[in-house]
Parts: sequence; C-alpha cells; structure tokens
Amino acid sequence: SGIHPLLQRLPKCEHHIHLEGALTPQVLFTLAAKNRIELPTDDPAFASPEGLVERYREFDSLDDFLHYYYIGMSVLLDAGDFETLAWDYFTHAAADGVAHCEVFMDPQAHMGRGIGYDVVLSGFQQARKRAESELGITSELIACFLRHLPPADAVATFEQDAVRESFAAGHVIGIGLDSSEKPFPPELFQVVYQKGGFMGLKRTAHAGEEGPAAYVRTALDTLHVDRIDHGVRVIEDDALLKRVADENILLSVCPISNVFLKGVQSVADLPIRKFIDAGVRFSINSDDPAYFGNNYILANYCAVQEAFNLTAAEWVAICEGSIHGSWCSQKRKEELF
Ligand code: ADE
Ligand code: ZN
Repeated sequence: SGIHPLLQRLPKCEHHIHLEGALTPQVLFTLAAKNRIELPTDDPAFASPEGLVERYREFDSLDDFLHYYYIGMSVLLDAGDFETLAWDYFTHAAADGVAHCEVFMDPQAHMGRGIGYDVVLSGFQQARKRAESELGITSELIACFLRHLPPADAVATFEQDAVRESFAAGHVIGIGLDSSEKPFPPELFQVVYQKGGFMGLKRTAHAGEEGPAAYVRTALDTLHVDRIDHGVRVIEDDALLKRVADENILLSVCPISNVFLKGVQSVADLPIRKFIDAGVRFSINSDDPAYFGNNYILANYCAVQEAFNLTAAEWVAICEGSIHGSWCSQKRKEELF
C-alpha cells in the first residue's frame, strides 16, 4: 500500500525479540558443523536447513515451537557463536529501520548445558557495540527466566555473581519471564522479581500469549512489571483492558508469531483496532523471526497494515508510543522522536 515507505522509514523500537529466536536454520547448521553438535537423528526435519524451514511452518502451539527453539540453541558454544547470532539479528534490524531495540536472552537455557553466563554475555555485548558503531542501532539487554523451570532455579541464577554483576554494571537492564506459559502463572516468580525490583531493574513478563488474561493481571499485581510481552488476551477482560490503558502499560505484540503458534488464525483476528480505540499502548515486534518465516519487524508492521489499514497518523502514534515505552535514556528518547 502507499503507506509502505512510511513503515520502512519510521524510527522503530523493537521490544520483543529473543536473540536465540534469531537463529536461522542456515546458521544453525553452520554452527552445528563447526562445533560438532549432533542434531537429533530421530526427527527427519533435521536432515537439512530446508527441512527445518518446512517444519517451522507447521508449529501447532507455543510448546511445539519451544521444542525446536531449545534444540536449536544447543549449537551455540563460544562467545563468537553468540556474537554471530546477535549480529545476524542486528543486520536484519538495520535493514528494517530499527533505531533502538531491547533484546531478550535466556541465560538458564545456556547455563543448563554448561555454557558460562560470561560467554553468552560477552558475545552479545560485542555484537551490541558493533551495532551501535556500525549501524547506529542502540540496544539494551534483558535476561529472561524460564518459567518451565522451578522458581528457585530463577532465584539461584539471579544470585550468581556474574549475573548480579551484569545487573549492577547496567550491562543487563531488565528481567523477563518466558518459555512455556500455560501451567506456570507469573506469581510463581514473585521472589526473583522482588529481588530485581530492589536492584532497580526494569521488569517485563510474557503473559496472555497462550495463557489467560488473569496472568496479565497477576504479572502486574505480583511482579510489578511495567510492560507485558504479548498480552493480546487482555482483550477478554474489559476491566483489565482499561487498567492497562490507564497505567500506560506497554504491550509488546508479536503478530506473525501469534499466527505461527496458532494463537490466532490470522493477523486480522488480533485486537489491534480495539487496542487503539481503548488507548492501549503497544509496540509491534518479531519475537523469534528465524522461526517464523524469516519475518523480522518490518514484515510484522506490514502484516498489521494489510489487516487493519491504519492511517499514517496512527502509525506515527504507534512509533511514538514505542519510544515512550522504551527503557533507554531520556536523551536517547529525544533523539528518536
Ligand atoms: N521464548 C521464545 N519465544 C517465546 C514466546 N513467544 N513465548 C514464550 N517463550 C518464548
Ligand atoms: Zn517472546
């Protein structure tokens, strides 16, 4: 449509991208060969990168995707691998007109297979520095806790020296909560979020992706998040919708992800128009672009435009809301406006 050049040009902020979700089948196979990682032999999808691309088109749920996501990241071993992964994301982000991004990582998923936190962090930091100097993209790092593991595991991870130091130094500015949602309500993770609050960390959590609107409420009430990742199911609770609008909670919506993981049949089924009408602030994001048809942020903007035919003014308002809801400095926000 005529608005496409505007979507490209707008200074976009991305708030919901798992760096591990930027691992393309091509890079996955290259690193598996380099690191001599044996991919599953009992799943024909792992026969070739093309086989994975095909399999990724058939996810039937969040958990079906997560199965592949955790196998995929097993090819990441040294700091250079993590740098390669993040740099791949940043180059796509630059091509799509991202000005600032706040990226997730899953430390427990790496520490659980014997990779040191510092290895993960140093690779990502290297790529972030390069993205700022070569691409002009500013970024922040958010460490997510895995909700399918025991809450005590999240606390123990938080308490590790290297992790605490990365928070204290501002290398990692916030915490999140991801992985399998449904049987694991946010309130299970109150202790680690309270610790994050004491350290002055920013807080967000995945909620209302597959799980019910009630998970959004308990994330707000018990984890004191100022952002909700996905959150699309708040539309099922009018009072909560109003609260999210009144409290200026930013929802980091991931339209193409929701279609790939069967949360909705099509992007048109998402409550984008209802969010705009209710004054709910949201950003539009890619989530795990390498797993969802190689659709990075701009493809998500375009899919929303195809489905909702928004005006230029509405797009500018979405981008301004995304800047407001970012966790960068006030100075950087002013540059972005
Ligand atoms: N980990 C990576 N992507 C995720 C998603 N969309 N929901 C929950 N956990 C995730
Ligand atoms: Zn996510």
